[in-house]
Amino acid sequence: MVDASELAFRDLCRKYGAQLAYTPMLHSASFVRDAKYRAEHFTTHALDRPLVAQFCANEPATFVNAAKLVQNRVDAVDLNLGCPQGIARRGCYGAFLMDHLQLVRALVSAAAAELAVPVWVKIRVFDDVKATVEYARMLEEAGASLIAVHGRTREQKGRQCPPADWDKIRAVVKAVNVPVIANGNVRTKADANRAMQYTGAEGVMSAYALLDYPAVFGGVKLSRMQLAYEYINLAERRNTPLRMVRLHLFKLFRSRLDANMDLNEAVAKCRCFEDFRQVADTLSKRCDFEGVSFEQRIERGEKLDNVVSAKRIERLKRKQLLESNQAVDAQSGPLGTSVAVNTPT
Ligand SMILES: Cc1cc2nc3c(=O)[nH]c(=O)nc-3n(C[C@H](O)[C@H](O)[C@H](O)COP(=O)(O)O)c2cc1C
Repeated sequence: MVDASELAFRDLCRKYGAQLAYTPMLHSASFVRDAKYRAEHFTTHALDRPLVAQFCANEPATFVNAAKLVQNRVDAVDLNLGCPQGIARRGCYGAFLMDHLQLVRALVSAAAAELAVPVWVKIRVFDDVKATVEYARMLEEAGASLIAVHGRTREQKGRQCPPADWDKIRAVVKAVNVPVIANGNVRTKADANRAMQYTGAEGVMSAYALLDYPAVFGGVKLSRMQLAYEYINLAERRNTPLRMVRLHLFKLFRSRLDANMDLNEAVAKCRCFEDFRQVADTLSKRCDFEGVSFEQRIERGEKLDNVVSAKRIERLKRKQLLESNQAVDAQSGPLGTSVAVNTPT
């Protein structure tokens, strides 16, 4: 994800269950030409594996040269054939290469012939299932070792677009001999299992759901606030550009920022990692997550599993104990207030 699947975010997603990660899309021409661009946009470390470097390209030699600069630090190189944005139309890359299939073939076959790592592709589907299947077969024939299929057409973009078409993904799975990754409509771990079962794909890819909750694949319930603190620490360690940190915190805090517009502005104005931590501190003191007050969550017996919560649980228990003792005193009879809480171990 452009500006969003950077190293720190990959670290976080891997910690909570993601088994494979892609870099943000890298412009192959800039990557070859510009050392500063490379240093900012491609960072990794020994544990950041398996890793796929994704490029956009429309010129075989440039694609190959860019890929050669990273091939000893990644497990595969991916060609972006799915970007539907205006910038991709103007630059003639991503999903706009669907109008130039001979060029796509040339890009994939040059890379497959010259690189030491497998060449993967990420595609969108055509309106027509037959055209989609032929496209996938052509990519396999050209040398693609894996096909990630976003089950939407080039025109279907933005949050309001229709659901991804898993039937088309299933048709691709049936038609090719290389592994397929299904993309689209995967919001939860249960969705991931359903997508793999329905389409027969080897795996699933998720974008929006991970931005919203990076532990989607972990099968654990964590608060977004805990994830935000963890992410800020990782981002600082990895010297992550602040615009990327901001993007992630806007996503993680989203449900809370609507009611705290001043903090929305504060995130926009953060100039260092400490600033981000301060906004997180203010937000966690001021309100509770997921639209339910802290006290209501305790009364429900919900598991509240971060340090801030543990301290507040203790305070609330003390307060309620005090109140119940006062009530006992006042009525001179037995009265108990029980609070069902799961404190962290
Ligand atoms: C912020 C953002 C950045 C993205 N950047 C890329 C990208 O660099 N390369 C790519 O192939 N797809 C990119 N995508 C598209 C996603 O990979 C994915 O195909 C799409 O969002 C549908 O999957 P989802 O329903 O899980 O979000 C991006 C999506 C988002 C939300």
